[in-house]
Amino acid sequence: MHVWSVANQKGGVGKTTTVVTIAGLLAEVGYRVLLIDLDPHGSLTSYFGYDPDELEDSVYDLFNGNKKVAKDDVTRLLLKSSHERIELIPASTAMATLERKAVGAEGMGLQVAKALSHVKDRYDYVLIDSPPVLGVLMVNALAACQHLLVPVQTEFLALKGLERMVRTINMINRARTKKLSFTIIPTFYDRRTQASVSSLRELHHNYPNEISNAVIPVDTKFRNASIQGLVPSVMDSSSRGVHSYARLLRSLLERQKQEAL
Ligand SMILES: Nc1ncnc2c1ncn2[C@@H]1O[C@H](COP(=O)(O)OP(=O)(O)OP(=O)(O)O)[C@@H](O)[C@H]1O
Ligand SMILES: [Mg+2]
Repeated sequence: MHVWSVANQKGGVGKTTTVVTIAGLLAEVGYRVLLIDLDPHGSLTSYFGYDPDELEDSVYDLFNGNKKVAKDDVTRLLLKSSHERIELIPASTAMATLERKAVGAEGMGLQVAKALSHVKDRYDYVLIDSPPVLGVLMVNALAACQHLLVPVQTEFLALKGLERMVRTINMINRARTKKLSFTIIPTFYDRRTQASVSSLRELHHNYPNEISNAVIPVDTKFRNASIQGLVPSVMDSSSRGVHSYARLLRSLLERQKQEAL
């Protein structure tokens, strides 16, 4: 089972879209995929038609009280999605209180990693959507994954949010024996705008080893897919956006193969 987290300390950069699109592409070729929504806003949860304000059980339960996580604590949270090979552990808005509660709560950083250890035979891939703030939820997302995807909107100021994220990764890496590697994904690219062109150039200059060759263009079909609750590749497999994510996925799988050698 491979675990990838998607994070950036900036909102609206395409994190949830990246999770859903890559999940769809993996499921399409037969992989069993688990999605975990660690964002209290619950956009990923809403995407598949669940209401994060109404849900009784959510990933929040893993942080409530007992630090031990039993198999049943995890399996009872699993929800179906619009795709037969994709399941979801949802978020609930109650999670917003967690950051305050968890202050000083030692050892809460591995709750998600512990949960995943119980389902490792059930899935091939796990994708974790994380909130745009550094706190106990993001720490869990970073601790549970083997590789991190960082979507970055190609616009002025994009680099600021990214720099914060990279500082966070460096901090996390001081505590990890195996360093967390990451891939930067340029999103909302529009080659007609100077902002897109120059920020992409800057990303290549500053992060030559981490930047993905696949660039995600602006594509209105992503929003249409989310309205219908379908993964983008099911809604329209020939769209430019889906093609770009497919290219990204190929390079991620290739990288994973190299690392395994
Ligand atoms: N490449 C794209 N082209 C056009 N629209 C996009 C693209 N990627 C995402 N969107 C749309 O932009 C909005 C924000 O995207 P998304 O929810 O994926 O970002 P996010 O980083 O998860 O945001 P948040 O921080 O609020 O969770 C959504 O309405 C989504 O459908
Ligand atoms: Mg999101």
